[in-house]
Amino acid sequence: MNDRFLKACRRQPTDATPIWLMRQAGRYMAEYRAIRAKHSMLEVIRTPELACEITLQPIRAFALDAAILFADILPILIGMGLELDFVKGEGPQIFNPIRTPADVAALRTPAAAENVPFTLEAIRLVRRELADKMPLIGFSGAPFTLASYAIEGEGSKHHLQTKTFMASQPAAWHELMHKLSTVISDYLIAQVKAGAQAVQIFDSWAGVLAAGDYRESVLPYVHRITKEVRAEVDVPIIYFGTEMNAVLPSLAEIPIDVIGMDWRTPIDEGWAQIGERFGVQGNLDPVMLFAPWGEVQRRVDDILARVNRRPGHIFNLGHGILPGTPVDTVKRLVEYVHEKTGEKALHG
Ligand code: CP3
Repeated sequence: MNDRFLKACRRQPTDATPIWLMRQAGRYMAEYRAIRAKHSMLEVIRTPELACEITLQPIRAFALDAAILFADILPILIGMGLELDFVKGEGPQIFNPIRTPADVAALRTPAAAENVPFTLEAIRLVRRELADKMPLIGFSGAPFTLASYAIEGEGSKHHLQTKTFMASQPAAWHELMHKLSTVISDYLIAQVKAGAQAVQIFDSWAGVLAAGDYRESVLPYVHRITKEVRAEVDVPIIYFGTEMNAVLPSLAEIPIDVIGMDWRTPIDEGWAQIGERFGVQGNLDPVMLFAPWGEVQRRVDDILARVNRRPGHIFNLGHGILPGTPVDTVKRLVEYVHEKTGEKALHG
């Protein structure tokens, strides 16, 4: 078993720095586009064999140290009562977004086994296929990022409806966060019971909030979810967000193992702010993979020098890999991180 990733999550020394990439399966790969040409996004997510096959595509192509389950953060909203579809060229859309306290009251909180059984089955298939070669990461969206999608109905620049709802309907906001947290905790625990060996909570948009609003209206729910998961299952928990600088210190209160960081802050400075008891995942700007290899290398060198092989670093991008990313650069990146940090590099 390649256990570099799990060891790094526990801040134990490793023979080389582990690397995986957010959205490592996706449109930049021809193999992925071939499947998507024949099946819609929801079809793929709901068909365990296809989700399993896509999960394994980047594992076959690159020397990655972990697989991440292929799914999306949004489908759990369907069982709660939201009408979701992935619209070609426009991304996900919700056709009955939440706009009133009555909409929140009407939301259901189904168990994952009933809501997304296909995802739990995909996890079992992937574990069987990986045959303990490397760990599988499960994931969920965090309550704020899911709430924003549920309220806006689509991606949003200003999160105007979401922030307004939070500020003007505090009781309904808390009920919404409470319901989402119930569904998310159960979902993460079910994924681990189905075979996921670590989980990542994606709070990609929480950085749009003022620190005070984050601490008051969002953090207690992330805290609750992580505590509930911890109480049930023993796997590393990674919490990822972008533009989270202002709230990094308050994350020290919650039981997570690793913080996923975007590229805006130099990784050593972010790490110093969060504190030594956490591992850190990141943080190459995904756009830089479009630059000439020498430039990619220079930025990877900078990240690795800042970390200086301190136990607890998991190399990743600062956000998901983008469509159009050159596959050859991805391959070289993965190999280069291992080469630069491997035992040979250290002693030879
Ligand atoms: O990391 C992984 O590879 C696991 C699978 C995964 C996907 N999305 C697949 C996907 C994960 C963990 C996500 C997370 C996700 N999804 C987030 C949080 C992280 C982030 O990227 O900020 C959010 C906000 C979503 C919602 C979502 N799904 C959006 C906004 C979009 C459209 C944007 C885009 O990139 O197309 C999706 C679609 C989506 N999710 C695709 C993939 C591979 C593209 C689907 C396609 O067209 O084939």
